[in-house]
Amino acid sequence: MPQTIAQMQEEILRIKREQDVCVLAHSYQAREIVEIADFAGDSYALSVHAAKAPNRAFLMCGVRFMAETVKILSPEKRVILANPAAGCPMAEQMDKELILAVKAQYPDYTVVAYINTTAELKTICDVCVTSSSAVQIVRAIDNNKILFIPDCNLGDYVARQIPGKTVKLLQGGCPIHAAVNLGELEAMRLAHPGAAVLVHPECTPDVVAAADYVGSTSGIMERAKSGGEGEYIIGTEMSIAEHLQYICPNKRFYPLSKKLLCPNMKLTTLPDVLNALTGGGGEEICLSGETLRDARRCIDAMIALGG
Ligand code: 13P
Ligand code: SF4
Repeated sequence: MPQTIAQMQEEILRIKREQDVCVLAHSYQAREIVEIADFAGDSYALSVHAAKAPNRAFLMCGVRFMAETVKILSPEKRVILANPAAGCPMAEQMDKELILAVKAQYPDYTVVAYINTTAELKTICDVCVTSSSAVQIVRAIDNNKILFIPDCNLGDYVARQIPGKTVKLLQGGCPIHAAVNLGELEAMRLAHPGAAVLVHPECTPDVVAAADYVGSTSGIMERAKSGGEGEYIIGTEMSIAEHLQYICPNKRFYPLSKKLLCPNMKLTTLPDVLNALTGGGGEEICLSGETLRDARRCIDAMIALGG
């Protein structure tokens, strides 16, 4: 095993080229992983890139539902999750039995699943959305009755943008983003009066309402890069403030809260990536033909609606 970060990165770059593996990294990953990735971005951008990439295999540095999404879009290719323990608590909050029971209560509702759900759950949902496409997709659905799962905060944000639709929510969401409170936002504004507050729609409605901008991980990064302000309070996972500080050294970035640290996103390390490439680690994602087919229908519905 190479010793330094630079040696490990060099080894990873060599092996992935040799094996024609496309390394995908969610933007919440650490800098040294983003640096060796073929592509880094938010959940939506990762799935779009994966669907088009010509490589023989994919290595996902992120959480399990992201690797599953890549497998659903490219079922004939090998997809490896770099650290098999990296799950997303929100994606695992609701199971098929629960949603089938709710569907039976609301038979005329279109079931919209946030992409942060298991492949299994997607098989019984109608349309998938990502945080960057949710408003656009729900607006385009030819039904005014929407059951939005699992994130009630993102669902609430979508409902407010489209007042003409009835959006039924369940009590689910991201424990990391939902933990931030309005008091923390107000304290940060007092400490940094000139800063723009940019937050993810997984935050609670009061935090979202008090922000200057609401958007996905990529949306927040673009807004911060192009904005005229010199300082930014970043209401999403900490690593985004870190990446932005690196990309824009002349601006200042502050995480909105110390609680914005996703332990699952931090599980993947450079040695994990190297081990997964050399066959000593990682987990190949295997889904049944039926799951692949039915979950794909949910993702294809998103693509057909312009997502
Ligand atoms: P996006 O990548 O859609 O911004 O979502 C954030 C997130 O929590 C991913 O797990
Ligand atoms: Fe899941 Fe939240 Fe972590 Fe994203 S930040 S992986 S939604 S727990």
